[in-house]
Amino acid sequence: MPEAPLQPSEAGHFADIEALFQPTHDEVARQRFVSALRKHVLVDKAADMKTAYETVERPSYAKKEGHAPRDLNEIREAMLHDPTFAVYSAMRVNAQEMTWQSVSDAVERKLPEMVAVAREAARLNPAGGSLRTDPLFKPPAYVADIDVHHIPGSFTAELMPDDVAIGAVAAHGTKVFSGGLAHRRGNPGAVAESVAHFLKRACPDFKPRRILDCGTGIGKNLAPYREVYPDAELYGIDVAAPGLRYGHACFEVQGIPLHLSQQNAELTDFPDGFFDLIVSSFFFHEMPVASTKATLRENHRLLAKGGRLAHMELPPNSEVDPYTAFVLDWDCYYNYEPDYADYRAQEPVQLCVDAGFSPATCWQRFIPNWRTFGDKDLARFVANEIPAPPYGNGSWFIFGARK
Ligand SMILES: C[S@@+](CC[C@H](N)C(=O)[O-])C[C@H]1O[C@@H](n2cnc3c(N)ncnc32)[C@H](O)[C@@H]1O
Repeated sequence: MPEAPLQPSEAGHFADIEALFQPTHDEVARQRFVSALRKHVLVDKAADMKTAYETVERPSYAKKEGHAPRDLNEIREAMLHDPTFAVYSAMRVNAQEMTWQSVSDAVERKLPEMVAVAREAARLNPAGGSLRTDPLFKPPAYVADIDVHHIPGSFTAELMPDDVAIGAVAAHGTKVFSGGLAHRRGNPGAVAESVAHFLKRACPDFKPRRILDCGTGIGKNLAPYREVYPDAELYGIDVAAPGLRYGHACFEVQGIPLHLSQQNAELTDFPDGFFDLIVSSFFFHEMPVASTKATLRENHRLLAKGGRLAHMELPPNSEVDPYTAFVLDWDCYYNYEPDYADYRAQEPVQLCVDAGFSPATCWQRFIPNWRTFGDKDLARFVANEIPAPPYGNGSWFIFGARK
């Protein structure tokens, strides 16, 4: 039964929705096991798979076809029946499913309280942010009709009024998901932190007044912009209401005002030229390429003159070697992300040009993960004195443009 809604404390503080997540000892043990299992698959099993490719499958393919695999599709063909690929894939799918399962019971136990706290935060906005959701909004099929990332119900499922469950599961599950990865562990906003510090170094005169994060989820990759651009207003849009409600409550209690609204990034209700900076993280690869193109055209409309885009995404095929491209495309086939490979086959700069940006203002590059690289080395990176770490070892791929 739902308990009585929580009230603001006498000190004027509001209940912390994240603190309501109280996994038991056994649940924490399970979460740690899943983080370790993912690391084992992504490091050890991936290494076994690469050895099998180099020593068995590539020579065998070359013998049969008269040439070694030339691209990611031929590598995939060579690997499809390899036992190390089967083990890697089966374990990775299981770890993915277990990620969300490992946090679900703890969310369900406190769900009525979480909903009450989120409602209260949305009514009172103690930090000065805002939340707009629309009960008539229909999320696109590419998010709502498949269990993206194996999240049961995808990002969008709502089983009760003002539901926050999937938002909480995705937020806590993502910590389990990245628990074994050094540059993301304990730092959910690592992408935003890295992009923001890079922009500040690379474009010292750029001072955005309004920043928009597309596909913001719970807004965790929006909040770090506040450190770097303290005067900017922060906006986030997403088609999924549960994450927006959950994230809004998280950041209101931390005193970080985010303006979150349920909208499709392909066509928003913001006026022309409303933003100076538009960002996103892990966003475009989950939508059809036609929707990516529509979103970038909408980004162009929303940017003020001189405004900038800086989207973090998976690197395209042209930026990685064919074997890495084959491994990256795994998610397209086994992680309910059917548009992943099509997206990665595009050239981000060309996508920006097609959306209306002048070619001379468009760019793409790897940037270092800020916290592990450090500010001093970031300055040297921006001055072209040192490179970013190799992909997979603490760097992010980003692309952008200026209007
Ligand atoms: C992989 S999640 C990334 C969330 C967040 N940016 C992060 O870095 O953790 C992709 C998000 O994009 C949202 N999304 C997908 N298509 C969208 C669209 N057309 N407009 C707005 N949000 C969308 C999904 O609901 C989901 O929250």
